[in-house]
Amino acid sequence: MILVLLGPPGAGKGTQARRLTERRGLPQLSTGDMLRAEIAGGGAFGKQAAAVMDSGRLMPDEIMTGIISNRIDVADCADGFILDGFPRTSAQAGTLDDLLAGKGLVLDAVLLLDVDEEALVERISGRFTCRNCGEGYHDRFKPTAEEGRCDKCGSLDLERRPDDSAETVRERLRVYRSQTAPILPYYEAKGLLRRVDGMAEIGEVARQIDVALGGESGSLFPNG
Ligand code: AP5
Repeated sequence: MILVLLGPPGAGKGTQARRLTERRGLPQLSTGDMLRAEIAGGGAFGKQAAAVMDSGRLMPDEIMTGIISNRIDVADCADGFILDGFPRTSAQAGTLDDLLAGKGLVLDAVLLLDVDEEALVERISGRFTCRNCGEGYHDRFKPTAEEGRCDKCGSLDLERRPDDSAETVRERLRVYRSQTAPILPYYEAKGLLRRVDGMAEIGEVARQIDVALGGESGSLFPNG
C-alpha cells in the first residue's frame, strides 16, 4: 500500500503518518524529517538545507526526487510506505509517477487534510517534538502528561523547529498555495484524491482516514 499525505504546513501530515505507521506497519517517509536529519549531521548539504528551510522555501526538485528514489529502495518499503511531505510540486508529482512505474509500483491513494489556514499558525507555533523518539506534541492540543517529559520514551529532550516562526510559517503557507496546491487537480483527475477534515480532533481525523481508505484492512483500494 502506497499513500501520499498532502496538506499545508501544520495540517497534521506528520501526526497522521505516524498513526498510520502504528496501525498499518508502513514506514513514514517524511522528507522534512530527512532534511532535518541532514541538518543535525552538520555537513555541507545540511547547511544548504537549513538555509532553504529556514526561509520557508522549497528544496530543488531534483534533490528531493533523488532522496525519495533512494529511500523507496530500502527493504522496509517492500510492502508499501507513506509519503509525508512529498510530492510538493507538479514536477515532483510527475517524477513520483515515473519512479513508481519504473519500480513496478502503484500509488493507492492521496489523502488531503483539509484545514482552515488561520488555525494553522496556532497549531504550528504550539508544537514541539521529542528529539529522542520523534513523538509530536502541542502546547494546547496534545500536551505531555508531565511537563517537559516525553510520554512515550520519558526523554527530557523536547525541541521546537526553527522554521516555525510566524514569519516563516506565512512564507511556507504562501509556497503551499502557489506550488503544492496546484497538484491537487492532478490527483483528483486520476481518482486518487481523498479529502479528510483536518480540523477535526486528531483521533477523528485518523478515523476518517481509515474510512477513506476503505476500513482498517484498506480492502477497498482502487488498485487492490
Ligand atoms: P515539512 O517538515 O514537511 O513541513 P510542512 O509540510 O510545512 O509540514 P509540518 O511538518 O509543519 O506540518 P504537518 O502537516 O506534518 O503537521 P503536524 O502533524 O506536525 O517540511 C519542512 C521544509 O522542508 C519545507 O518548508 C521545505 O523547505 C523542505 N521540504 C520538505 N519536503 C520537501 C519537498 N518534497 N520538496 C522541497 N522541499 C521540501 O501537526 C502540527 C501540530 O498540530 C502538531 O503540534 C500536532 O500535534 C497538531 N495537530 C495535528 N493534527 C491536529 C488536529 N487534528 N487537531 C489539533 N491539533 C493537531
